[in-house]
Amino acid sequence: MTRIRLGLNIDHVATVRNARGGAAPDPVRAANMALAAGVDGITAHLREDRRHITDKDISALKSACDAAGKPLNFEMAVTAEMVAIALNLKPHAACLVPERRQERTTEGGLDAAGQADTVGEAVRLLTRAGIRASLFIATDPRQIEAAAKMKAPVVEFHTGALCDAWRDQHQGVFDAELHKLRVAAELADELGIEVHAGHGIDYDTVPFIARLPQVKELNIGHFLIGEAIFTGLEAALGRMRALMDEARQKKA
Ligand code: PXP
Repeated sequence: MTRIRLGLNIDHVATVRNARGGAAPDPVRAANMALAAGVDGITAHLREDRRHITDKDISALKSACDAAGKPLNFEMAVTAEMVAIALNLKPHAACLVPERRQERTTEGGLDAAGQADTVGEAVRLLTRAGIRASLFIATDPRQIEAAAKMKAPVVEFHTGALCDAWRDQHQGVFDAELHKLRVAAELADELGIEVHAGHGIDYDTVPFIARLPQVKELNIGHFLIGEAIFTGLEAALGRMRALMDEARQKKA
């Protein structure tokens, strides 16, 4: 089975920095450390309210990724402002996410089916600029079919509900969410869409997700940045990588 890629979401290094308004901790330093430790890419979300990553960060992260020869995955809301920034930045990939100012994090998937015109136009503009567009969606066949229709090359499935169910010890919900993820990954793969997954993943939940053969990339942030406080970033990434590789050896 192919090796699964690990993208580190760096946003929460900037969250800690911004809590004091200074320059430390620097998300670019963390990105460079992660890249040197062998992470496959860096993911960063430039939110509309700039609550963590700033415009200056995103261009410095792009330079850091370019210097390391690794991809930057730019998470963005589907707005004219963000599409313009993406077209100018030219990251390897752009992951289109729903965004609400009041939310603490990206709470649900993008309604690609309900906003097919806007999302489809963003996919078209990004693709034309050579940026790999990805849709952050729920494990819902309607959304996958909409992604296929608008020729999105990648979907990233929102694993928040799955990971929450594990932590809350709701076995029934967890089993149902895992089943939905498996079926969704199969459908997207059949439709020729590359499958990624992300949100809420930790050491306990990663084996269930990395085991699915259609899943080619995981984007993980909050847990790894938190864990780095205790073990250091390199060790946290190393443990996650080992768990992903181990899961890959097992049959789904
Ligand atoms: N993928 C996407 C599209 C996201 O919006 C996020 C959260 O910003 C992640 C992955 C990473 O989620 P977490 O920080 O919970 O690992």
